[in-house]
Formats: sequence, C-alpha cells, structure tokens
Amino acid sequence: MMHFTPIRTLAAAAGLLALTLPASAGPKRDAGYFTNLPLVTQDGQTVALYDDLIAGKIVVFNFIYTDCNDLCSFTTARMVQIADWLGDRVGRDIFIYSISLDPVNDTPEKLRAFAAGFGIEPGLGWTFLTGDPADIDVIRRKLGERGDNLYDHRSDMLIGNADRDFWRRTSVMGSLKLATQTILEMDPDWRAPAVSPALIETGDRPATDFIISDRRGEAMFIKICSACHTIGAGVKFGPDLAGVTLRRDHDWLTRYLQAPDILLRDGDPTAVALNARFPNVKMPFMGLTQTDAKDLIFYLGKQLDGLDSTLTSAEADQPAASHDHASHEHTAHDH
Ligand code: HEC
Repeated sequence: MMHFTPIRTLAAAAGLLALTLPASAGPKRDAGYFTNLPLVTQDGQTVALYDDLIAGKIVVFNFIYTDCNDLCSFTTARMVQIADWLGDRVGRDIFIYSISLDPVNDTPEKLRAFAAGFGIEPGLGWTFLTGDPADIDVIRRKLGERGDNLYDHRSDMLIGNADRDFWRRTSVMGSLKLATQTILEMDPDWRAPAVSPALIETGDRPATDFIISDRRGEAMFIKICSACHTIGAGVKFGPDLAGVTLRRDHDWLTRYLQAPDILLRDGDPTAVALNARFPNVKMPFMGLTQTDAKDLIFYLGKQLDGLDSTLTSAEADQPAASHDHASHEHTAHDH
C-alpha cells in the first residue's frame, strides 16, 4: 500500500465521515435553506447561490484556494478527468463549482489563472467562485463543509440534484470511476450501461484509473502523478516526465518530490524555472517519504527504454506550446 500521509489521511477521513446533508424528511431544501447569498465568478459576474447555481441542476461543489501547495491542484486535476468522462453533460445539466476558501486573496483574476492552468474555460459548466468572506463562511457551512482551517476536507465533493433534494458527499481520492458514477446517478434517468465505453476510455487518454499494477512506483505514478503528468505523451498540467531522470540530478529529484513547495520558496533555480513555465499549476506537496520518492524515480528511470538517449536538457525544457499533446489536453473542455 502507499504511504502519503496527508492524502491517505484525508482520503480515509472522507470515506469514514461520508458526510451527507441530512435526509430530506421535511420540506424541500431550496433558497430558504441554501440562501441566495452572492458569489463572484472568475469573470467577475455576481451570482446568487441557490437561484443561479443550484436550482434545477445537478451540481458538484468543491472547495479550493489558489495559494494551496498540496491538495487543491491535485483534486482539481482529478476532477478534470471526471469532467472529461461526464463530457458535454457538463454545462448542460451537470454544473461544477469550485469555491475559494481564501476569498480575500482569491480575486476573480487569480481564479481565472488557476482554472486556465487546468484548461478549464469559463462558461462551459465549471465555474470558480469567490466572494465576501462572511458570505462564503455561511455558504460552506450550508454545503456541509465545516472544516475550521484550510486543510480540512479539500478532497471532498458535495454532489446534489436540486430538484430531487438529494445530496451526497464523495472524495476525489478514491476511484474516479466511482465518483463519476455517483454524479451520473443523481440523474434518475441515468442507467449504468453494462459496459460504458465513456467510463472506460475517453478519446486517446488512457483511463489510468483502472490499470492495476503491482509495482509500487508505477502504482503511485498512476494514482497520484498521472493526473498532471505523462511520460512521453506530452505536457498535461505539468511537464512531460520522459527522460526526467536524465535531465535532473537524482538527489535533487528526491528532494523536489518530497518538498517542491520548499525548494520553490527557497529559490532553488530549477524549481523557480519550472514554476515559471507552469505559472498556474503548482507541483503539489504530497507528503511523499524518501522511499516513495526513490520508488518513483526508479519507475521514471525505467520508462527510458526506447527514448532517444540524445535527449538533452535543452530539448526537454522546450516551452509547453511546442508539444503536440499540450493543445489537445488543454482543450479537453472546448466543446
Ligand atoms: C496537480 C498537478 C501535479 C501533480 C499531481 C504532480 N505534479 Fe509534478 N509537476 C507539476 C507541475 C505544474 C510542475 C512544474 C513545476 C511547477 O509549476 O510547480 C511539476 C514538476 C514536476 C517535476 C520536475 C520536472 C522536470 O522537468 O524537472 C517532476 C520530476 C515531477 N513533477 C514529478 C511528479 C511526480 C512523481 C508526481 C506524483 C508523485 C507529481 N509530479 C505529481 C504538477 C503536478
């Protein structure tokens, strides 16, 4: 099994808590329960919580903040995979909302940049929201997000069907297929197909969630890293890691994998240069142990077979735009 303390702890917490809004015995929860407190979208538009965001829709809420060094970018990357599987239902009957837990700092501009880092275009059914801190405090409690500090519950999603007043909470740390299915099940007309090609594969992106591997580094890579990185298939939300064990010193890699945020803060030139190339997505702190890091480096090193051994660090540092796959990955929501 894997050993990343923060993620494991949060995933376990999410599973155990399985928080759900109280069953709707009484009258339907509508604006009277949720309120119509205002929120501001990444485009600066003011919207009313119930009437504009929830009423008549299947909704997915999560909480993020842009200065977050660990789970927020990780969960967002995983939710991109879910959104891909949901396809064009996102923006039609299913709407995703990421609300800032740090509204003072998270201006619409910052949210726009954060979303853009994951190729999430405004107006396509996934909206990032900020607002007045006092309002957001009320809203997150209404949505069952009761964490008293920024580190709580950020791996959870609240999923609901407003018309049916049916609400569930799920984690994006577990099976993404299951999370996707939980969202689809909010639609009473949706029936799980015997074999759902959409759930198994989307376009040419392999459904890495379903691959089982007994090799530790590979299993970790698939579970945690593949949300943002490919090995040889181009830039996703972070650099293509093909050849990374050639272009980077192994001690540096070990330190970077364990504490990318600290290297960046301390002005490590490589960390700073990488961050400048990917300004909107941060390589997250994942609580990896040294053993985790070594297993990952071993796995990454083994993927070199078939790679052009002349790959130089200059080539590897080409800007993202020069990779064919970058534009494909980043326009996943442009339909
Ligand atoms: C949320 C997205 C995300 C996740 C998850 C993630 N990374 Fe990253 N990673 C990045 C970004 C973005 C960068 C570029 C630096 C930056 O902007 O902070 C990066 C940089 C790197 C680098 C440096 C690459 C180079 O060219 O030197 C390595 C190595 C790396 N990541 C490995 C991993 C591994 C291994 C995992 C899984 C344990 C992982 N990353 C998980 C986004 C992510």
